[in-house]
Amino acid sequence: SFRQNIPKGTKKPPGPMPLPVIGNLLQLSKNPHLSLTKMSETYGDVLQIHIGTKPVLVLSGLETIRQALLKQGDVFSGRPDLFTFRLVGDGQSMTFSSDSGEVWRARRRLAQNALKTFATSSSTSAGANLLEEHIDKECAYLLKKFQQLMEKGEFDPYRYMVVSVANVICAMCFGKRYDHDDQEFLKLVNLTDEFGAGAASGNPADFIPILQYFPNRSMKNFIDINKRVLSFIQNIVQEHYRTYDKNCTRDITDSLIQHSQEKKANDNAGVQLSDQKIVNIVNDLFGAGFDTITTALSWSLMYLIAHPETQEKIQSELDRVIGRERKPRLSDRALLPYTEAFTLEMFRHSSYMPFTIPHCTTEDTVLNGYFIPKGICVMINQWQVNHDPEVWKDPFHFSPERFLNEDGTTINKIEMEKVLIFGLGKRRCLGEAIGRIEVFLFLTTLLQQMEFFKLEGEKLDMSPKYGLTMKHERCHVTAKLRFPLMAE
Ligand code: HEM
Repeated sequence: SFRQNIPKGTKKPPGPMPLPVIGNLLQLSKNPHLSLTKMSETYGDVLQIHIGTKPVLVLSGLETIRQALLKQGDVFSGRPDLFTFRLVGDGQSMTFSSDSGEVWRARRRLAQNALKTFATSSSTSAGANLLEEHIDKECAYLLKKFQQLMEKGEFDPYRYMVVSVANVICAMCFGKRYDHDDQEFLKLVNLTDEFGAGAASGNPADFIPILQYFPNRSMKNFIDINKRVLSFIQNIVQEHYRTYDKNCTRDITDSLIQHSQEKKANDNAGVQLSDQKIVNIVNDLFGAGFDTITTALSWSLMYLIAHPETQEKIQSELDRVIGRERKPRLSDRALLPYTEAFTLEMFRHSSYMPFTIPHCTTEDTVLNGYFIPKGICVMINQWQVNHDPEVWKDPFHFSPERFLNEDGTTINKIEMEKVLIFGLGKRRCLGEAIGRIEVFLFLTTLLQQMEFFKLEGEKLDMSPKYGLTMKHERCHVTAKLRFPLMAE
């Protein structure tokens, strides 16, 4: 029950009239990012709808979103208590649960430190980091796999990329990798479409309680997927407890176990976290760490086969800067502006995470003169920002060049910072650096050696299917080697 009395000098956010029981559900349609963008043209950057009988605040416009998530960051940093969120990670998720600010902040710090130790810190004398080593290894497997598939003709690249990318996060989290033909693992990592459909912003079951008691097929799938992922991870975590040695921290799971035990030994932490809340952080990292990146790579391949001239420009940049004698390295990234521009345009144009994960307010507040009550669910329309004609010239046109300065050889930082795909502020994606590194290394390693084509006579279907991460239909491609595969 939200306060009806609005403080003097503020207004209630505008929005369409809700119907009884269902509210504005029908107006959300199958593509809420599009219908809410349209609605923002009528009602502005701060608008309110009702899903079922619950009010939901919808934010659009880069400046308004920066104001909320950066300048009023603490107030907008909560997560709503949603039915679907309680199904993720047994309700213990750092990302999705509605834990208090303190508990969430302590867990987020632990996750950040774990990633720093097992991903981005430098490990070798050559300055490469652990992440780069894992990616390098998985890229080599993937190239070999693609080469075998290519000889047989067409293939579905997604099916193999998802295993390679998932193996990178498994290496960091669990010290394990899985074979491309491991059926159990394949099933697990291919469940992400259904996860994304359940966790999508605006799922009616989150707002109309009766739907929770009569779950439809997609809700049953969502419940099932979360159970499977949880039991997959619980098995691995138990194995880690059995073989744990405090003198040898093998991976992120070990380091979290270590943390939970040290916490008992010297109780000086500001907040009390249960062992479960510490060790379960690994669920969040595994869950967030591969679907997002695989989807980026898959959209990249679609844009490359739809725009062969773009693919050729990236390859000639790779030939010029790296040549064919060695593989791309992280340290090459700054020297490959066209490749960087392509990646930014892929993120912007696809906007495959159309909304952030929903937020909620932790206090009553005022935004752009509108009164916003404590505890209201907030949807942040990243898709709208990335297609706003006030912000972008020809927003629907795919053009990596828009991110290059006039000299054509440096990235326009101002344009770059307008792309919204990792969220902003306190809840900003924790894996952004890792995500960008993986997309860069997988993409450049593949493109240095292979050229991708669409199937003869086939029409590309690039329409996205709405979800937490939006995907295109799986698509078969063909490819050819640009030169004989490099020796390892
Ligand atoms: C949250 C995008 C990769 C870990 C998020 C959010 C977005 C996002 C939009 C929600 C932000 C919000 O609610 O305001 C992406 C994209 C990725 C990516 C586009 C890849 C290209 C990763 C990776 C990891 C990761 C590789 C882990 C290794 C997380 C976590 C959160 C999160 C833990 C929750 C943060 C919190 O609630 O405090 N990400 N992500 N992400 N991401 Fe990512």
